[in-house]
Amino acid sequence: MIIRPRRLRSSSALRRLVAENRTHPSQLILPMFVREGLSEPVPISSMPGVQQHSLDSMRRAIAAAAEVGIGGVMLFGVPEHKDAEGSGAIDPNGILNVATRAAVAEAGDALVVQTDLCLDEFTDHGHCGVLRERTHPVTGATELIVDNDASLERYREMGVAQAEAGSQLLGLSGMMDGQVAAVRDALDTAGHTDTPLLGYAAKYASAFYGPFREAVQSSLQGDRRAYQQNPANRREGIREVELDIDEGADIVMVKPAMSFLDVLAEAAAVSSVPVWAYQVSGEYAMIEAAAAHGWIDRRRAIEESVLSIQRAGAEAVLTYYATELAEWLRR
Ligand code: PBG
Repeated sequence: MIIRPRRLRSSSALRRLVAENRTHPSQLILPMFVREGLSEPVPISSMPGVQQHSLDSMRRAIAAAAEVGIGGVMLFGVPEHKDAEGSGAIDPNGILNVATRAAVAEAGDALVVQTDLCLDEFTDHGHCGVLRERTHPVTGATELIVDNDASLERYREMGVAQAEAGSQLLGLSGMMDGQVAAVRDALDTAGHTDTPLLGYAAKYASAFYGPFREAVQSSLQGDRRAYQQNPANRREGIREVELDIDEGADIVMVKPAMSFLDVLAEAAAVSSVPVWAYQVSGEYAMIEAAAAHGWIDRRRAIEESVLSIQRAGAEAVLTYYATELAEWLRR
């Protein structure tokens, strides 16, 4: 036998030297929930270790994140009052915009403060856009659907409000057609030509968003299958990536991560802009639940999961483990 692949696995120094991928803190982005009116953080039961932050606890968490050198934070707002139009998203004094200003003041240039641009946290019906009545083409029944183009008008205003609050990267997660082009145009018209856009290009209607619904106290009835993608479809995910790039996305994302690694790998192969992936709430919850039972080694599972997402092609990973993982990497 001449060829023995095990030779390169025979010592830890050799294994480290030939590693094709490694995680660096700067490639990690921490999603954070900031809830209006809190004086103390509130734990999220389906995501042990993750909290709804008060403004103060958010500032402390951002300082800790900056200390270990992660690349950024992605802010989600949880407003006290919701309405059909999601007005709190556009209000400069809405929780997400207030939190953004506080986050930027805390972070300085140490990390990139990013914001979720979607209406679902702000609407009383919990959908990512505004609703419109229609007559069902087959049954003739009257029903409510998410109105794509009316939602774009709201996204345009939300984008400008976020840029004005100081957000350094807008994450467009609503899955409306044309959302990247619409927000780009609104920002450019308002003079925010240098604010970059992250398109959640290939975003699937996933069961793995379950715990997120608790995190943002979502009021959603039903599901998002009329705008998010069918998990059955790979080609469609690539089409969405290409469309977002054509519309001016500076970065594209695949989400969830672990059940869509094939889509991620293909997106990374075809994309001319950076490709990121989001290890979502349900992926976090599964690792936590199994580890709590002693069924898997928590730290190894976390490291392996994030490394797998990088190996598939993600240049940065949104993960609720960002700060903890970065701490381990520093030691
Ligand atoms: C929409 C949004 C969702 C997530 C991120 N942005 C929820 C959804 O699409 O239903 C899910 C993130 C997670 O599960 O961790 N604003």
